[in-house]
Amino acid sequence: MKMVALMGSPRKRGNTDLLVEAFFAGAKSKGAEVEKVWLNDLRIHGCQACLACHKTGRCRQRDDMTGVYERLLAADFWVLATPVYWWGPTAQLKTAIDRWYCLCYGEQPKLLKGKKMVLLTTCADEPKVATPYLRGMLKQAIGFLQMEWAGEIAVQAGPKGEVAKKPAELARARALGIKAAGGKRLKSSAQC
Ligand SMILES: Cc1cc2nc3c(=O)[nH]c(=O)nc-3n(C[C@H](O)[C@H](O)[C@H](O)COP(=O)(O)O)c2cc1C
Repeated sequence: MKMVALMGSPRKRGNTDLLVEAFFAGAKSKGAEVEKVWLNDLRIHGCQACLACHKTGRCRQRDDMTGVYERLLAADFWVLATPVYWWGPTAQLKTAIDRWYCLCYGEQPKLLKGKKMVLLTTCADEPKVATPYLRGMLKQAIGFLQMEWAGEIAVQAGPKGEVAKKPAELARARALGIKAAGGKRLKSSAQC
């Protein structure tokens, strides 16, 4: 099983990263292949609404999103990892999500159908206050792509690295990683 994490936070070794590390530790213990994609390190432009993808199934823009599409299509399992920024995902993650538009056309919907996704998120406020819009938006998006929601971990943390002081939350993330990787292997996919 291949897993790819879209890292929405700009902070390496930050709270969301630590949560992903715990999730991946669990998944790797079950043999999953894992990869983090640090969106903040990439050059990804916003969707230009040119709608060229409606005809071709491909995005006309040539930037670092090309490699992200390849990884998303090759993975069985997506990890959307983001701190809550203004009750939603970070701009880095939202920009990449807008660029999923081309995945709705051509052969790609068939390739995405049945892939799974988890949300790993951190927030300074209580998760029940901070996360409803983020979760709601991602659940709608994943449903639209006919992918499956495979769970979430939302942890309250503010200062960088605070999640390291929350072993119970890290254990939950690890357990979700084990569960996620324990599922049956999904169909592999072609390149974008
Ligand atoms: C621009 C910005 C906006 C934020 N907005 C929220 C918010 O709406 N709700 C919340 O609970 N925390 C908010 N936070 C706090 C972060 O979600 C929190 O510190 C998180 O743990 C950071 O994760 P990271 O270390 O992975 O970057 C915000 C932080 C920043 C920098």
